[in-house]
Amino acid sequence: MAERQRVLLLGATGETGGSILEALLEAGQFDVEIMVRPRSAEKPAVKQIANRGIKVRVSDLAAPEAQLVATLSGIDTFISAIGADDLIQQKSLVRAAKAAGVKRFVPCAFITVAPPTGVMLLRDEKEVIYNEIKRLVLPYTVIDVGFWHQFSYPRLPSGRVDYAMMMPNSTIHGDGSAPNLLTDLRDVGPFVARIIADDRTLNKYIYTWSDVLSENEIFNIVEEMSGEKIEREYESAQEVEQKVAAAASNLAQNPDIPMGRLQRYVTDYPYSKYVRGDNQPSYAKYLGYLDARELYPGFKPISFRDFFAEVLAGKGRKPYSGAPPAGKVADL
Ligand SMILES: NC(=O)c1ccc[n+]([C@@H]2O[C@H](COP(=O)([O-])OP(=O)(O)OC[C@H]3O[C@@H](n4cnc5c(N)ncnc54)[C@H](OP(=O)(O)O)[C@@H]3O)[C@@H](O)[C@H]2O)c1
Repeated sequence: MAERQRVLLLGATGETGGSILEALLEAGQFDVEIMVRPRSAEKPAVKQIANRGIKVRVSDLAAPEAQLVATLSGIDTFISAIGADDLIQQKSLVRAAKAAGVKRFVPCAFITVAPPTGVMLLRDEKEVIYNEIKRLVLPYTVIDVGFWHQFSYPRLPSGRVDYAMMMPNSTIHGDGSAPNLLTDLRDVGPFVARIIADDRTLNKYIYTWSDVLSENEIFNIVEEMSGEKIEREYESAQEVEQKVAAAASNLAQNPDIPMGRLQRYVTDYPYSKYVRGDNQPSYAKYLGYLDARELYPGFKPISFRDFFAEVLAGKGRKPYSGAPPAGKVADL
């Protein structure tokens, strides 16, 4: 891989993409450009990025292949942080990247460790793209990050952390003992910046983490740090499985309703993480993943405790709120 890579990032205005963009710029060793679809080219978020001197390449993913190849020309590393609903659209990008001679394609992974197919719809769709990459023998790296800290803590009875929560709840799934890989959203980027500069990660799957915690451990930490007693609600493994079956049946009957897909995603995660126990280091290693903490022992990710201390101090940020991503703990 060339010393100084030209990196094209898709999804830079999103949560994952925003974290990646900031880290790539901060690393100072990449020539970073972003790719946006035509209908988003005039969005304020895109303009703000362009105003920082970052080149914007505009193309629709459904554009003719020749146009996409031109969009990807001269790119060493392509990173996709496309949202969950548009994953399959990456297929055209994979073909264009192969034709354009992209040296590393990082497809949109960035989720929990899970079986390649048959457990999480989201993972199944990502796998379609990984298979296309492999069919074309395109150099790649798949990066999974466990679950974000930002989605991994329970509601407090006082309601004082509700401001930063997407879906406030205090549910424990199964017996709450399954170990679970966690990464702070703000650390996704710093991990990605290290991984794409590293030849050891070419044609490999990598997982990142700061903590491995069960729901029981998370609830204990949150109670200890907040001084509040959480009313624990339990959802049995059987109830989780029933919810997955209901969501799958609903989606099969109404395949075109977007809420149906979201419902599948939301029910698949607890099933995979807490009932099957997929999102843990031993299973990642079984699947052949490399451990980013072993690759980069000098990098100290934001721990769950440090993250939750910020939330308690009122310095958290609700994901998808549109506010700019906060800096590292030290900057807050
Ligand atoms: N590990 C976790 O805990 C966790 C949590 C959440 C998400 N994720 C995963 O992270 C990945 C990224 O999700 P996210 O929630 O970070 O994304 P997001 O915030 O929804 O942002 C999606 C980005 O993709 C762009 N985009 C969407 N469709 C596009 C298209 N057809 N053409 C061009 N650009 C398009 C959007 O740009 P526009 O401005 O054009 O819309 C936006 O920049 C997903 O695969 C998701 O499964 C993981």
